[in-house]
Amino acid sequence: MAGLTRGQSDSLLENYCSRLGILLEHRYYGLALLEAKQQAEKAASIANEAMLKAQAADNAKSRFLANMAHELRTPLNAIIGFSEIIKLDNIKNQECYPEYGKYIHEAGIHLLTIIADILDIARIEAGKVELQAELVSLDQIIDAVINTIRPSYQKKLIEVEYAFTGPSLQIYVDYLKFKQILLNLLSNSIKFTDQHGRITISSTVMNNRDLVISIADTGIGIPPDQLEKVLEPFEQVEDYLTRENDGTGLGLPIARGLIRLHGGELVLNSKPGAGTTAFLRLPRDRVHCAAPTATC
Ligand SMILES: Nc1ncnc2c1ncn2[C@@H]1O[C@H](COP(=O)(O)OP(=O)(O)O)[C@@H](O)[C@H]1O
Ligand SMILES: [Mg+2]
Repeated sequence: MAGLTRGQSDSLLENYCSRLGILLEHRYYGLALLEAKQQAEKAASIANEAMLKAQAADNAKSRFLANMAHELRTPLNAIIGFSEIIKLDNIKNQECYPEYGKYIHEAGIHLLTIIADILDIARIEAGKVELQAELVSLDQIIDAVINTIRPSYQKKLIEVEYAFTGPSLQIYVDYLKFKQILLNLLSNSIKFTDQHGRITISSTVMNNRDLVISIADTGIGIPPDQLEKVLEPFEQVEDYLTRENDGTGLGLPIARGLIRLHGGELVLNSKPGAGTTAFLRLPRDRVHCAAPTATC
């Protein structure tokens, strides 16, 4: 700083430093601003994600309510409608009464099934279901299920076959609840398989001696990203193909809840357009040979 007095150079330096200070301050505020901006953006993205989730939950709730209202109203309308005709009829169409009575009865049974399913899932989720286990023949329980459901698969000209190779087995299960599991799975296979389709039930004892019962159909299938979702209560595949079918979305979660109570598991495997297979695994301690000398 040649040529400047001490006083001049001091003030110049002070000036320079203070300008530098301002610049540093700017830089400091700039960084803080950038950080705050990044945090604000992060918060906005979290809020956006939460909003999307809330919207999805809201949509799911609306779909559930609309579907449930439809499922409950349909049989109720039949009951109210046909009983009203009888009430107002003044004995004019008495010959139709048995037919109307049949519709009312069917709608009542349907309504009872829906209510029973809702109560079942609530009790399963609350851990209030207890098993009354007994030894039953595997063949017998599968035959009983096939016989119960025969009218609905015959109506669609679907072929159902049961294939089991190996010695006869007895399983230690709650008879009614195990039947309910199989009925829920088999009724889905019938519902989602077109006319002339095929359903194959088979059972295999695995190397670890667990029993696996599979129910395979040639139906419409389930998209891979929905395989887990449909096991949750009230969830159904959102597809124009399946929406023409009735249902509350409780059959699979009830089946899974009941097989888990037996210590087993339900797994679905599916290929859209090619069919679905439901695998039921029952742990080895519940599987016994019917003949004591046979090796299972
Ligand atoms: N065998 C199957 N083939 C195709 N889709 C199926 C099958 N089983 C279940 N699903 C799908 O899973 C959904 C849930 O099944 P479920 O819990 O039994 O309820 P619901 O039969 O009342 O709809 C069905 O609505 C359907 O979309
Ligand atoms: Mg079902």
